[in-house]
Amino acid sequence: MKAIFALLVAMVLSTTCARAETAVDAIAAHKHMGVATCSSSVCHGSSQPFRDSNIAQNEFAIWQQFDPHAKAYQVLEQPRSQAIARKLGLGDATKAKVCLDCHADNVPVTDRGERFQVADGVGCEACHGGAEQWLNSHADRKVTYADDLAKGMYPTADPVKRAQLCLSCHMGEKERMITHRIMGAGHPRLAFELDTFTWLHPHYKIDADWIKRKGEWNGVRDWAVGQGVAAENLLDLLLDPKTGWQGIFPELVLFNCQACHKLMKDNNWGPRQGTGLGPGVVRLNDANLVTFRYALAPVDKSAAQRVFEQTRALHAATTQSREATFAAARNLRATLEALLPKVAAFNYDAASFNTILASMVADGESGEFRDYAAAEQATMAADSLVTAFGNDGKLDKERTAAVKGRLNAVYDAVKDEDRYSMGQFVAALKALRAAAP
Ligand code: HEC
Ligand code: HEC
Ligand code: HEC
Ligand code: HEC
Repeated sequence: MKAIFALLVAMVLSTTCARAETAVDAIAAHKHMGVATCSSSVCHGSSQPFRDSNIAQNEFAIWQQFDPHAKAYQVLEQPRSQAIARKLGLGDATKAKVCLDCHADNVPVTDRGERFQVADGVGCEACHGGAEQWLNSHADRKVTYADDLAKGMYPTADPVKRAQLCLSCHMGEKERMITHRIMGAGHPRLAFELDTFTWLHPHYKIDADWIKRKGEWNGVRDWAVGQGVAAENLLDLLLDPKTGWQGIFPELVLFNCQACHKLMKDNNWGPRQGTGLGPGVVRLNDANLVTFRYALAPVDKSAAQRVFEQTRALHAATTQSREATFAAARNLRATLEALLPKVAAFNYDAASFNTILASMVADGESGEFRDYAAAEQATMAADSLVTAFGNDGKLDKERTAAVKGRLNAVYDAVKDEDRYSMGQFVAALKALRAAAP
């Protein structure tokens, strides 16, 4: 009896594991009822924050007023979107599936409730999941977060799951691919950092009651996890024969934009340890792999070194063959997958702050920030670290203010991708490091 039970458990486990549901699948698993079903004034549509409630209940008002997701569909009506779509031969951008998949909550028509409107853009259920099963029950105080999740609410509180969700639009995934052709038609380049972006237009607050209901919050860990998940996502795109490769070359969007888009007169090539490539070679956009090494530095130094070596091996493989590239990408993917849970469980403390900054500066001195994309990620990392450690009280007020004062110069150095200078960036980074404890 016991043996049969164990077998059944094993079978259930293996089927759930084999499915490995993506964020896109999870969000689409249930019917989407529409933003209008969330926005009543006694639900999430209050104009003032509620005092006697776990949540502010003004989430809809904040989203509608401040959050660009509420305008994501309207963007498609604008002339610049229409021009992109026209150049691609897509017709009307507001009707094109490829645009709607990221600029709206584009679930199939049969999965839309009566009050659903695609013009609501990236609405509540595009992140919180189809509300079909939890809409009526979730406001009851006796209902726990676990109950909601069991009914299909998406676990946005979990940093790994949140990163997978955000990146499905902010980097693209195999069902929602942003291609170099779309960029070529005028789409802005995408850049994402989980902690920074989570706090740009929030309709939520992490307070004691949030922690009681949903668990710990740590901004540094979010940053670290975000880098790992983004690096995995890059490799998944590269490994997918359908999306990653069209013809003889991998999808250009996975490469470093500036590797090709620079001025002929620049003539300023220099070596980068992290790639090991010589001059005149197009390189993958490894920004998240570079930054994930900093996240790993306080967790496991030898693992950071392993990621460094396997990233170099991947770069080398891209100059050899498709098979070699796939093999190297698979190796690195397996390494990241094994490390991510360690990073997600790690308690980043005040000492980590120094370790992370020190490894960033060391890389700066050896020329790792020759590529703009990595400098951009390092900038958001520095900001995220200082803010999160400051908020947690792990850095005292004076230090936080001193380091923050030097962040502006770092941001200045990456303000314009076409005028990026590694020298200016590294100098700003070193000055920031000098202000840290
Ligand atoms: C993989 C998801 C994805 C796809 C596919 C996609 N977009 Fe976007 N788009 C985004 C994201 C994310 C942003 C915001 C970038 C940022 O600010 O960091 C954006 C920004 C834009 C912007 C600039 C908006 C602004 O406020 O500055 C325009 C215009 C745009 N997209 C049009 C389109 C059109 C037209 C299509 C279809 C051809 C399309 N997008 C396809 C994800 C996507
Ligand atoms: C771009 C993704 C996104 C969209 C769109 C979005 N949310 Fe959220 N929401 C989040 C994230 C991330 C959190 C914070 C993590 C958490 O509490 O799970 C959150 C948290 C919340 C919370 C919980 C706060 C708490 O204390 O537990 C509520 C309530 C909420 N959102 C309601 C809404 C409503 C209503 C809408 C639509 C008007 C909406 N959200 C749209 C991502 C989103
Ligand atoms: C369904 C696709 C989708 C998902 C999922 C999504 N986003 Fe977005 N996001 C967009 C699009 C499209 C835009 C651009 C909207 C515009 O410019 O009007 C955007 C814009 C943003 C912006 C504004 C960027 C800026 O330059 O001001 C932030 C911040 C942001 N998203 C954070 C997040 C976070 C955090 C998550 C995950 C919790 C997330 N997004 C999930 C599609 C998405
Ligand atoms: C392997 C080299 C290569 C890489 C890497 C690359 N591009 Fe391109 N890009 C090209 C080529 C070739 C063209 C076509 C130029 C033309 O049509 O004259 C182009 C065209 C463009 C255009 C249109 C320029 C115009 O003249 O209108 C934009 C915008 C663009 N790319 C953005 C990007 C972004 C963003 C990235 C990184 C995500 C990127 N590219 C990565 C080679 C590259």
